[in-house]
Amino acid sequence: MSEKSMTGKTLFISGGTRGIGKAIVYAFAKKGCDIAFTYASSVDTANEIVADLETNYGVKSRAYKLDIMEPLTYKDVYKEFDEDFDRLDFFISNAIISGRAVVGGFAPFMRLKPKGLTNIYTATVAAFVVGAQEAAKRIELVGGGSIISMSSTGNLVYTPNYSGHGTNKAAVETMVKYAAAELGEKNIRVNAVSGGPIDTDALKAFPNYEVVKTEVIKRSPLSRMGDATDLTGACVFLCENESSWLTGQTIVIDGGTSFQ
Ligand SMILES: NC(=O)c1ccc[n+]([C@@H]2O[C@H](COP(=O)([O-])OP(=O)(O)OC[C@H]3O[C@@H](n4cnc5c(N)ncnc54)[C@H](OP(=O)(O)O)[C@@H]3O)[C@@H](O)[C@H]2O)c1
Repeated sequence: MSEKSMTGKTLFISGGTRGIGKAIVYAFAKKGCDIAFTYASSVDTANEIVADLETNYGVKSRAYKLDIMEPLTYKDVYKEFDEDFDRLDFFISNAIISGRAVVGGFAPFMRLKPKGLTNIYTATVAAFVVGAQEAAKRIELVGGGSIISMSSTGNLVYTPNYSGHGTNKAAVETMVKYAAAELGEKNIRVNAVSGGPIDTDALKAFPNYEVVKTEVIKRSPLSRMGDATDLTGACVFLCENESSWLTGQTIVIDGGTSFQ
């Protein structure tokens, strides 16, 4: 993979202002890729990232406000995207909800509530579907490309309070397979990248963050937590020609924690 192998291509990613999404934004910009990304409330950070990418990485970048709790609003965001960019090659569904929106979804089993679970489904599965549908219409026009959903090993390993997210990550990984089966004829590959616990704001919001961190370091043969940049290589790989026959899969990057 050459240094600027993505020059002239465009990535659209949800949730590019923090954590894993921000790390992916920079990994693709280093490859020369133009970057469209979304934010929910971090407008100042979004503007700073756009300016930094254009000034210091020499790529085109724009940021758009999106609420994944209203998946159909993706359509309006893509209309704005069309005003700014003339092609789309890659889409990554990365944004995730936290805080009030996950009350009743992020809880021990006996305290789960339908509303919280439904919210996580909307933000994880329904938002992936609409974002990927709109992406596929555009990626088809350039002869093909790649779509990725971020996932997590909370569907493989018991993680306290995480059943709402874990079950919806399992669901989105299956949706990825269905999308891959139907979009292959357009030369669009669809995969998931599943991470073990990564040290981001989302994880720091866990009430038992310190316990999780200690446990992950103990479990990993590599004796450390994941860093946001640990998932970027797989995303770049899945968008490069080197992975041209890879579709409908989940790549697990967990520091070896799932086998312990
Ligand atoms: N952290 C982990 O341990 C871990 C492990 C494996 C996989 N993952 C997955 O990786 C992805 C990113 O996780 P992260 O830990 O990097 O998350 P994060 O640090 O909490 O960042 C969340 C991102 O989503 C945006 N966002 C929040 N609420 C939103 C809403 N209602 N509508 C649209 N965008 C919204 C945020 O924008 P603002 O800055 O504007 O709020 C931010 O850019 C998620 O899919 C997550 O499940 C995480």
